[in-house]
Amino acid sequence: MSTLDEKAPVATGTASPMIRVEDLTKVFGSGSSADEAVALAADGVGRREIQERTGATLAVHDVSFDIAPGELFVIMGLSGSGKSTLVRLLNRLIEPTSGTIDVDGRDLGSLGDGDLRTLRNERMSMVFQHFALLPHRTVAQNAEYGLQIRGVDAAERRRTAEWALEQVGLGDRADALPGQLSGGMQQRVGLARALASDTDVLLMDEPYSALDPLIRRDMQKLLVRLQRELRKTIVFITHDLNEAMLLGDRILLLKDGRLVQVGTGPEILASPADDYVAEFVSDVDRSRVLTATDVIHEPRITVTLDERPSDVLVRLGKAEATGAYVVDSEHRILGVIRDDRLGHAAATGATSIDRSALVEEYRTTEPDRPLIDLLHQVGRNPVPLAVVDGGRLTGVVPRGAVLAALSTHPEATHPAATHSDSTHDRNGNV
Ligand SMILES: Nc1ncnc2c1ncn2[C@@H]1O[C@H](COP(=O)(O)OP(=O)(O)OP(=O)(O)O)[C@@H](O)[C@H]1O
Ligand SMILES: [Mg+2]
Repeated sequence: MSTLDEKAPVATGTASPMIRVEDLTKVFGSGSSADEAVALAADGVGRREIQERTGATLAVHDVSFDIAPGELFVIMGLSGSGKSTLVRLLNRLIEPTSGTIDVDGRDLGSLGDGDLRTLRNERMSMVFQHFALLPHRTVAQNAEYGLQIRGVDAAERRRTAEWALEQVGLGDRADALPGQLSGGMQQRVGLARALASDTDVLLMDEPYSALDPLIRRDMQKLLVRLQRELRKTIVFITHDLNEAMLLGDRILLLKDGRLVQVGTGPEILASPADDYVAEFVSDVDRSRVLTATDVIHEPRITVTLDERPSDVLVRLGKAEATGAYVVDSEHRILGVIRDDRLGHAAATGATSIDRSALVEEYRTTEPDRPLIDLLHQVGRNPVPLAVVDGGRLTGVVPRGAVLAALSTHPEATHPAATHSDSTHDRNGNV
């Protein structure tokens, strides 16, 4: 979806995932009690009862999912749902009770200690909630720590650390000590350290939970930008569904160690898997989660300059519209033609549309704009809001579609609401 990198769009569910998890289970408990716990779990017994009967904790049970290269994958669940356990299983900081994890096609279970160390140093880096910075080392030394472990020479790791600090907006604080920085800045150092390590995968366990809301928003924006530019595969843990929806290409919802649903934010909003999820999503701010792409429609009518005005008038009438986008052969918008101007042209017997008859009464948006930014743009013009991607008209956003998407019961309001888009406010001023 990103226009920044058309070579490598996020492709979910492709044949070669970056991370593949199959039937993963983790029980904390000793030998026979763990076996008993697994057997009970397989029968669908809940975590609490398993705990009571066996003394073992079912932290993660029978979870399977794929993460595509370049995907920002969010694991979301309440406290104790098994998020940290799951993310620690992903780099084998803890061993699974059963199930497999492949990273880039390699089964983690088959790796020896050396390979595992290499994997953690060179393929996957971890960013923690409480920063885990070394207090007596400078910001730059903290940022280059992963490279130092890897044995990269001093000059090169300093260069890389400076680049990474630059990426997170801390280029001028290289020589400060962590204690001299705010929480948000310390978290940026943690992120810089992960970036400097230049691993394909970043595992981030509630990295922003300790930050106050404004700083947190900055950090969320920073992460989205970096992910787009650097094409990292990111596994991001949070207990905040709004954060999950804002960041995640897809979200995995965990409850008591079990997977409840995996999907994009809009998919989960539109069809929650069960009452538990439905209850959760009722608190989500849809206007910030849904984007133009989620409410895009085919334009009812588009017109080219070589068309006969009288014919276009007939088509407009059929489409119940008072205006239409005029596009060139590349589908770029040239302007809008309104029915009154067409009427004049038709009266003179014109056989094509004169460019001078076009008006500029329209607005455009990029596909990934959140609905909150579109609310004041829709419904003011003879044509609905245009979605323009790479200069081309890819669709429109009728006012009714936005309103329907923001209501919690889209089906109920959709048909009536979408009808008003193109007949609305024919003399609308921009
Ligand atoms: N090392 C351990 N030994 C025993 N039980 C553990 C261990 N680590 C986690 N657990 C238990 O496993 C369950 C899942 O814990 P986990 O830390 O994965 O949850 P979480 O979703 O990360 O929670 P939080 O949001 O509080 O960080 C909990 O019941 C926890 O008490
Ligand atoms: Mg945790």
